[in-house]
Order: sequence, then C-alpha cells, then structure tokens
Amino acid sequence: MLRQSVSYLRYQAGSEDKMDLSKTLFIKWQECNDTGIALVDEQHRGIVSIINSFYCLTERGMGNTMLYSVISDTVKNYSRIHFITEERFLKAAEYPDFEQHVELHRELTWEIEHVEYVSIVENDPRPLMEFLKKWWLEHINEQDMNYVPCLQAMKDRDCKKIKTLG
Ligand SMILES: [Fe+2]
Ligand SMILES: [Fe+2]
Repeated sequence: MLRQSVSYLRYQAGSEDKMDLSKTLFIKWQECNDTGIALVDEQHRGIVSIINSFYCLTERGMGNTMLYSVISDTVKNYSRIHFITEERFLKAAEYPDFEQHVELHRELTWEIEHVEYVSIVENDPRPLMEFLKKWWLEHINEQDMNYVPCLQAMKDRDCKKIKTLG
C-alpha cells in the first residue's frame, strides 16, 4: 500500500514538471504563526506543509481515494506525535486549561477518522480539506495560541526544561 502510494505521488509530481510552486500555497507561513517554542513551530510547519500539498493536488484535480488515504494516514501519524509533544509541554508548564486542551485534541483525533471515512466513501476531498483548514484556522491559530504565554513563561524560567521535554 505504501509503495503504491509513493509511486502514485511520484507519478503525479512527474506529470507537473513545470508547476509554478509560488501559486500552490494555500497557507503562507508568517512570523505571527510562531509560538516561539521551536519543536511546536517545527511540527506546526509540518502540518501546514501537508495542508499545502493536499490543496495543491486537489486543486489540480489529482485527488482520488488513494490520495485521501495517504493524506489522512500522514495527518493521523503526525497529529498523534504532535499532540503528545504539546501535551507534555503543557503538563510541565502546569497550563491551567490543560484538560480542555487535551479534550480538543481528542475531538480532532476523532474527527480525522470521520472525515477520512467520508472523503474515501464519497470520493470527495472536501471533508478532509475542511478538516485541515479548521485545524489550521481554529486550533493552531486560536486554541494553541492561548497556551503560548504559559509556555513562554516556563521557557523564561527554565529553558533547559523545554529542551529536555522536546
Ligand atoms: Fe498544535
Ligand atoms: Fe493543540
């Protein structure tokens, strides 16, 4: 399955040799998107990269059920690692809304499963794209930004702690 998926993506990339990459970005990273916590920012950039890749392919009519499955597997694996990282930081920083944030992660995890199913069954990229957009706009840019002062305070108090956790 993985080998087939990689061949498919290679095939798609090869058919678009003259692609103008500047026109393929759905999200352009800006400084205001940074949390200031290096590992979290690195992972958020990774999520943005997945969203941009998916957007680029579906905009060009290249989406199919195999692509949805590859994208959602990548999102699932990536989000699992990212949520563990974030929750470890939040716990160490004694973030007051820790439980609520963990619950939001749980909801997103459930939603990924649901939208993957809908996109594949209906052969429609929109549920998956809408989910990724929501993740970016609501979770990363709003809900994640709420914990930034708390993590920054921990970083200022004990920079070593952040490095150990990362
Ligand atoms: Fe996050
Ligand atoms: Fe989060």
